[in-house]
Amino acid sequence: MLKNKTILLIITGGIAAYKSLDLIRRLRELGAEVRPVMTKSSAQFVTPLSVSALSESKVYGELFSLTDESEMGHIRLAREADLIIVCPASADFITKICRGIGDDLASTLMLAADTKMLIAPAMNVKMWENGATSDNVRTLKTRGHHFVGPDVGSMACGEIGAGRLADIEEIAQKSVRLLNPSEKLKDKHVLITAGPTHEPIDPVRYMANNSSGKQGHAIAVACVDAGMKVTLVMGPSHLEDVPGADVIHVSSALEMHEACMGLMPADVAICCAAVADWRPESPGKQKIKKEENTDHWDIRFIKNPDILRDLSMHKKRPKVVIGFAAETDKVEANVKQKLLKKNCDALVVNEISDWHDPFGSDNNQVGWVTNKGHEPWPLITKQEVAQRLLDKLEEMI
Ligand code: PMT
Repeated sequence: MLKNKTILLIITGGIAAYKSLDLIRRLRELGAEVRPVMTKSSAQFVTPLSVSALSESKVYGELFSLTDESEMGHIRLAREADLIIVCPASADFITKICRGIGDDLASTLMLAADTKMLIAPAMNVKMWENGATSDNVRTLKTRGHHFVGPDVGSMACGEIGAGRLADIEEIAQKSVRLLNPSEKLKDKHVLITAGPTHEPIDPVRYMANNSSGKQGHAIAVACVDAGMKVTLVMGPSHLEDVPGADVIHVSSALEMHEACMGLMPADVAICCAAVADWRPESPGKQKIKKEENTDHWDIRFIKNPDILRDLSMHKKRPKVVIGFAAETDKVEANVKQKLLKKNCDALVVNEISDWHDPFGSDNNQVGWVTNKGHEPWPLITKQEVAQRLLDKLEEMI
């Protein structure tokens, strides 16, 4: 999958640097030629000899090396790569690339390169959460740099939180996807809905659900990586916008419906949002006051339009329409009926139970349902669900 591809692997200083050895091994297994570049501090954590032995390549490290410059030249080193991976990427190195600082070979290469870049951050949780790091990461994302991770978990320093290097296999697979964009998916326009909807009761109250938008967000990121033209219609969420996607922020089901219909025609629609089926029929124009002489408050609800069904029935219907379903009981029967009623090509089904609640979680266990049958998928990250969904989409489109 990476045959004839040259990957420049920049290793920066951090406790996770030793994991770059595994990445080299995996990238080479996939057929890539790996040219390693090490910063001075990375050599405190992993030896150039191990890096060289595993990559079967010279390890580059000096900006002013006469031999390196006469053999290759740092500009050529940057330009000959099909992909640059920074793994692990320290907070300091991320700051350098964001600011355009070129004070060593690794940072100068990042400045001189015009190729795709994949950054795998790894650092202490407080460093990752620091506003400076967040700002730098956001800036780099908007410039088109791709990121993988960091994961959440316990760290070498004993703290728990976000900052762990992403799984090596995930970094390798993301590299494969960046270097092999599907010809079938490339440039196709996909409309994705994500997140909850807020149905107003009065100016200060609303009815909502626990969707965080993470699953739809992950699908949008995977679609951008696949070279698709992505429009994400997002209900209220704390997540950042997906770089490379057009993001339309909405609040209620009515607003989401209007935005989606206005986006037709599209090639693909993926409806992941947890849209409220009902909304208060007559939301109060002022804050509704608490009545002293009653313990009840009756609200009359009215049906919301069904966005998924209206997209599926649209005269400019997308070629492929995929819905999600969240079911607590009679899953098989309900899903069969939903597939028919909503006229979609496939449903990704969440079975909600005491032991599985995908709302807000980083993982999801779903089934892929079409009129040909039901394929259960294991408990995987929402990013992996997104990738499997794209594999299916590639077969369908
Ligand atoms: O956002 P996360 O925290 O990451 O959680 C992800 C998720 C659990 C919300 C997601 O995986 C999921 O299951 N989304 C669909 C939830 C849902 O509303 O299911 P449903 O069975 O009620 O709806 C079926 C389908 O119809 C969905 O595609 C939904 O987007 C769509 N629908 C529903 C009602 C409506 N008025 N319009 C719609 O388009």
